[in-house]
Amino acid sequence: MATAEQLRAECAREIDRYEYGHFHNRPWLREAFLTVPREAFVPERVWWPHRSPEDDKFPLIKQREAPVRWLRAVYRARSPLITQIADGAVLPDGPTDCPDFSGSISCPAVVVNMLHHLDPRPGDRVLEIGTGTGYSTALLAARVGAASITSIEIDKDLAAHAETALRTVGCTPHLIVGDGEEGYPPGAPYDRIISTVAVRQLPQAWVDQVRPGGVILTPLDTPFQCDGLARLTVDGQGRATGCFVGAVDFMKTRGQRGHRSYAELGWPTWDGYQVTVESGEQRIRTNS
Ligand SMILES: C[S@@+](CC[C@H](N)C(=O)[O-])C[C@H]1O[C@@H](n2cnc3c(N)ncnc32)[C@H](O)[C@@H]1O
Repeated sequence: MATAEQLRAECAREIDRYEYGHFHNRPWLREAFLTVPREAFVPERVWWPHRSPEDDKFPLIKQREAPVRWLRAVYRARSPLITQIADGAVLPDGPTDCPDFSGSISCPAVVVNMLHHLDPRPGDRVLEIGTGTGYSTALLAARVGAASITSIEIDKDLAAHAETALRTVGCTPHLIVGDGEEGYPPGAPYDRIISTVAVRQLPQAWVDQVRPGGVILTPLDTPFQCDGLARLTVDGQGRATGCFVGAVDFMKTRGQRGHRSYAELGWPTWDGYQVTVESGEQRIRTNS
């Protein structure tokens, strides 16, 4: 049976293949990934996020009953594990057909991708939205130091699990139970805000709580059936501007689960995108 260290190293090699350059360009990130025990953050019972062909349900993986399967699932580079469904209304006592995932440990490749784009510096003051299991918090702490991190989780049970797991690995950031859409003014200004939960509309509070020149990295819902990973720089005049650096798929903040029209959220309508093909070259622009 492969050990956690061996699976972690295998997972890092797979991330190297898919996200070429992320570890190479950020040696601290490789070091942190190989050091932080992801398994310490994963609850004993988690759902696999893909339906089983046998019963069309999301299988429950129990560490005690299936330790090898559980550990392999923990180190699948491109798969998250579900830690909570329907805000806790679905108990982790068996497979379920309920797709309302409300808590997860993000997949290793995505966590690495996001920290690569966040590009924090040692000592940066960072606000993290959506503590979840605390796993990405621990990786971030390896770079900036736990004392520089404030992390907000809206669900008190998930927050308590994260606090225990973080303490187990000797990491003690400032943990808040609350609505991350409001940011956390007492800790502002931040050098970086990272959200590991998607928004449809970026909260102005985040822009206002980052110092001029600081960065906001967040999944932003798009009309393209995925979230765009937005990396924005704050100008200190109440504005943040940037672009998408990748495509991800995250659950929405509790306050932004409801439908809102993309037009209302500032997206161009379909005829607002201009596609040109000329002499074998393709260009895509927005008309605005
Ligand atoms: C994808 S999970 C985060 C996973 C985390 N990065 C990890 O690897 O463990 C998203 C988390 O955001 C939390 N969340 C949802 N809305 C929130 C809000 N308004 N403020 C803070 N946390 C929120 C959810 O409860 C969930 O735990």
